[in-house]
Amino acid sequence: MSVESTVWAVTTYRLTEMKQRGEKIAMLTSYDYSMARIVDAAGVDVILVGDSAANVMAGYETTLPITLDMMIYHARSVVRAVNRALVVVDLPFGTYQGNSKVALDSAIRIMKETEADAVKIEGGEEILESVQRILSAGIPVMGHLGLTPQSIHKFGTYAVRAKEEAEAEKLVRDAHLLSEAGCFAIVLEKIPAALAARVTSEIPTPTIGIGAGPGCDGQVLVIHDMLGINKGFSPRFLRRYADLRTVMTEAVGHYVQDVKSCDFPNEKEQY
Ligand code: KIV
Repeated sequence: MSVESTVWAVTTYRLTEMKQRGEKIAMLTSYDYSMARIVDAAGVDVILVGDSAANVMAGYETTLPITLDMMIYHARSVVRAVNRALVVVDLPFGTYQGNSKVALDSAIRIMKETEADAVKIEGGEEILESVQRILSAGIPVMGHLGLTPQSIHKFGTYAVRAKEEAEAEKLVRDAHLLSEAGCFAIVLEKIPAALAARVTSEIPTPTIGIGAGPGCDGQVLVIHDMLGINKGFSPRFLRRYADLRTVMTEAVGHYVQDVKSCDFPNEKEQY
């Protein structure tokens, strides 16, 4: 293998270095082998097997119903596809809250059964003990603050979080706690850009924003949203890089027409 073709895998340590030298971190979700191969080959640094799989893969309204077994299935498929990106897997709702032993067992299952690189957990001080216990087993943890979708029934809305001072100050404290505990990165979801920039400047841990402005160390989007496959979701922060829903609908419609009109398969498309 030539030096040029050597693939350097992204590690948690490299993400810290990227923050230190001001190089932005690109993160996207993936849930299956074929998509993860494309995302990895295109140069994404971190692939998140998000529990947003509950929405975009399974069609649930919220992320709450997805199980650990379902996440493990998605993560295994992604890991098989990836050469370079760091693969992070969401711990789903109910697998870490309230009991750090359960949290560790869940994280160990993910690491053993999927061979992913790290886990992600939503929340701050409330789940700190779980974060510490998982970290103490040598499993890297990514935090997630701001709009944490597993708490949607508590919030009652997907609106921007931490606009009020008390919630903003709690978020800053939580970010420091997660950083000091040893989280290798923290997702900041749907919070004011100025608050995200403040957190980013105060902690040495890389921050990855989604609807949190340009001051974060990196950005993440859900792949189905940014490719325009899922068009029912249009928050202000979402930039669409393609209109695959239209492309796919036209292609499938064309196929149906060709089958019905006996145009497909033709002489060259048979044995
Ligand atoms: O599950 C997910 O896709 C996420 C991102 C939105 C950060 O948590």
